[in-house]
Amino acid sequence: MKSSQPFLDVHKQGIRVRPLARTDLPAVMELEYLGHSHPWPESTFLDCFKPNYRLWAAERGEELIGYAVVTYMVDEAHLLNICVSPHVRGQGIGRWLLRHLIAVAVADGMDQLILEVRVSNDAAAQLYLSEGFSEIGRRAGYYPDGAAREDALVMALRFT
Ligand SMILES: CC(C)(COP(=O)(O)OP(=O)(O)OC[C@H]1O[C@@H](n2cnc3c(N)ncnc32)[C@H](O)[C@@H]1OP(=O)(O)O)[C@@H](O)C(=O)NCCC(=O)NCCS
Repeated sequence: MKSSQPFLDVHKQGIRVRPLARTDLPAVMELEYLGHSHPWPESTFLDCFKPNYRLWAAERGEELIGYAVVTYMVDEAHLLNICVSPHVRGQGIGRWLLRHLIAVAVADGMDQLILEVRVSNDAAAQLYLSEGFSEIGRRAGYYPDGAAREDALVMALRFT
């Protein structure tokens, strides 16, 4: 992982990551619809406010510009959702969110982080690969894709 390399001057840009709150959900839903072809309904986010989940918000001033949802199962963390506002993509915010949630998962005693990503989602796959993830499998037809289905790459980053 390239975690020692600088990637975003968060102080200059006034950006911070903090736990996501239920009161963020209206702003989350706006980004969710902009960011995903098959957005989660709000009820799915609400179901994630449980002790074995970590929900993160990236904000600039009062504006929500990204979020991530992770669940813990025994010693394995699973990244369920990560999204950055289309207006601020390509500025290192996704990488910063990812590194934040990884650092917390390590501190929480997790052994690895796994995730699924659409095979067509080059931006996300490149981000994960550049952070040291490797492809460990493929789930055929995992995602809806109009009337068809799209495969998922399964990726993992081992912490130990
Ligand atoms: C994936 C996502 C979170 C990345 O957020 P971001 O803030 O734009 O990403 P960053 O600026 O931190 O970029 C980190 C790396 O991702 C990769 N990347 C980002 N955008 C890319 C693009 N359009 N094409 C190819 N690679 C890209 C690059 O490797 C980049 O590193 P570099 O800038 O050194 O080249 C964002 O594109 C997004 O919200 N997408 C919609 C939701 C989504 O697909 N989530 C992932 C589901 S698995």
